[in-house]
Amino acid sequence: MTTLLDPSARGRVVLVGAGPGDPGLLTVRAVEALRTADVVVHDGLVDPRVLDLAPASAQRISVAKRRSRHSVPQDGINALIVAHVKTGSVVVRLKGGDPFIFGRGGEEVEAVRAAGLPVEVIPGVSAALGCAAEAMLPLTHRDWSSAVSFVAGQCKGLTDQDWSGLAGKGRTLVIYMGVATASAISEKLMADGVAPDMPVAVLERGTLDGSRAMRTLLADLGPMVEREAVASPAIIVVGEVVALSDAQDKLARWARAAEALA
Ligand SMILES: C[S@@+](CC[C@H](N)C(=O)[O-])C[C@H]1O[C@@H](n2cnc3c(N)ncnc32)[C@H](O)[C@@H]1O
Repeated sequence: MTTLLDPSARGRVVLVGAGPGDPGLLTVRAVEALRTADVVVHDGLVDPRVLDLAPASAQRISVAKRRSRHSVPQDGINALIVAHVKTGSVVVRLKGGDPFIFGRGGEEVEAVRAAGLPVEVIPGVSAALGCAAEAMLPLTHRDWSSAVSFVAGQCKGLTDQDWSGLAGKGRTLVIYMGVATASAISEKLMADGVAPDMPVAVLERGTLDGSRAMRTLLADLGPMVEREAVASPAIIVVGEVVALSDAQDKLARWARAAEALA
């Protein structure tokens, strides 16, 4: 059983994974933590319905990236959290998905510990898992994929990242933050030897209203992202399991159609 901080203790931080969007995917423990919050420090991807679970009296502080200005730098976020905890507040640091998957949760835990303050982490459903479930896309499959990797596809350092062997037959690669670099990603993977006709899915706004699941082949990834005007947040899934999702989708559509006729 996870070691938890005393829920009645003052002056502590709880890093909470808010999941991919749908509030129904929050853990019971995440909901409990939100209900005890004095201060909620949250990212932009957190759904307003999740924020509503904190008491009305709780202070809500967004550290999201806005069009007009940059996001609060990580040092600033760490300092903000520490300052509030020192006043005796229960600070819930709410992050999209899981705090430890491309969420800088590790850096925040280090900063709070360095300040000698108590911190606990409540995991969340990462975007890959939430989006895959919604799209009926099994990330592993006994016949088709025995390994799955998560990578970040944002511009910084993309060419330096070694993804060789992560995508291909019998494996699944999930790319976070890859919309803007989709063409470069597909070229990088093909240069590493991944077949141009490897199935690819782009899962946009997974578990949120207006979510879309789009499928194509690796060579067409960049053009499809343009054609479909794919916007963030979205993940890219590369692997043979993507073709299964299509089959599952057809089955689900058929089942819904059959239900409607019944
Ligand atoms: C900074 S990362 C945070 C990841 C998060 N910690 C997690 O575990 O899902 C942000 C990226 O996660 C992915 N993402 C988050 N929410 C998503 C959603 N609802 N649908 C699709 N992708 C999502 C996108 O690739 C987005 O650019």
